[in-house]
Amino acid sequence: MTYIYKLNQQNMNTKKKESFFKDKEYHAFTALEKAHFLSFAPYAFQASILLRDYSILSKLESNSNGLSFEELKNEFPNISYYGIRILLEAGIGIGLLYEENEKYFITKTGLFFINDRMVVVNTNFMQDICYQGAFKLKESIENGTPAGLSYLGNWNTIYEGLSQLKEKEKKSWFDFDHYYSDFVFPEIMKILFDQEIKPLEVLDIGANTGKFSSYCLQHNKQVKMSLLDLPGQLAMADEHLKSQGFEGKYQLIAHNILDETIVIPGKYDIIWMSQFLDCFSDDEIILILNKCKVALKENGVIMINETFWDHQPFHAAMYSLQMTSLYFTTMANGNSQMYDSRVFMKLIEKAGFKVIDTKVGVATTHTVLTIGL
Ligand SMILES: C[S@@+](CC[C@H](N)C(=O)[O-])C[C@H]1O[C@@H](n2cnc3c(N)ncnc32)[C@H](O)[C@@H]1O
Repeated sequence: MTYIYKLNQQNMNTKKKESFFKDKEYHAFTALEKAHFLSFAPYAFQASILLRDYSILSKLESNSNGLSFEELKNEFPNISYYGIRILLEAGIGIGLLYEENEKYFITKTGLFFINDRMVVVNTNFMQDICYQGAFKLKESIENGTPAGLSYLGNWNTIYEGLSQLKEKEKKSWFDFDHYYSDFVFPEIMKILFDQEIKPLEVLDIGANTGKFSSYCLQHNKQVKMSLLDLPGQLAMADEHLKSQGFEGKYQLIAHNILDETIVIPGKYDIIWMSQFLDCFSDDEIILILNKCKVALKENGVIMINETFWDHQPFHAAMYSLQMTSLYFTTMANGNSQMYDSRVFMKLIEKAGFKVIDTKVGVATTHTVLTIGL
């Protein structure tokens, strides 16, 4: 049973896309199974986490001839007989393992669940950052505030608290954030430094721990980097860049981008915003783009790196982004999301910008927009 449609790029024509979104490819029985899976999804998730974290799945992975219940019990003396039994049984229903001739084996889904880096990063993010707050989705939608955030700390938005998260939470948040940047930044270097305007002064808004700036500084010796973010994140960026020997080659701008009373200092050839505008609501995006106008040199451009859910070639990628939107609702700030490109383009237009270039499928999943006045 699989819920994942494999669509490659050339299949993303309109006709195929319609069936992709309208569920036409499901047979009724598969659709019903999917609905049943959803009914118990929270338990399926928690049991999967335990099967992974107790190392039951990895033990099965390393025993390709299977393990009997008694053998498994002996491997995990700290888990009760009852505990192992219910987890194994749940694992069968979930599809992480199977039983044959009184031996347990890991399934392909089980192998992906513990080994696929993207699955692991998403799972840890869900468990350590989102899970408890997910229960507050209704309240968050109704109040427009991240009602689940109180499980992590007493802040208005998660960005205020990032540097203060507990170690495990912090790791899961940053692993998630960095994962989706790490594989795209090397590709961006080719695009960025191949502009007609040779970028000399680049402003990275939402610079986070400074990873992008570090790539730029390594890639181009002439570039002048400015990093704009909230103070907590800039302190981490400073430490990171200094440790790489870039001291004196960048400037830090502590600035709340939503504060309309302050202007972005300086003028730039390129304003870079990577996975940043998705942290804001429709109106806030327009506000931010308007604030950027005064910080652009003549002929300067804004480059935006986003993962739009409607640009994804795989169902799983689209699904992951749509679920990530709910993190923004319940945990981040209560009003932002991973955008549909059609919605996003209208916001660019409303802010008075023109799209100069659109690169879809950068590192498979990202879209890089170059916009100007
Ligand atoms: C999802 S991260 C993106 C990080 C990075 N650009 C990347 O591509 O991996 C969003 C960043 O925006 C920053 N941010 C959120 N709200 C902000 C605000 N109001 N003003 C300035 N920075 C903000 C956060 O601190 C965080 O570092």
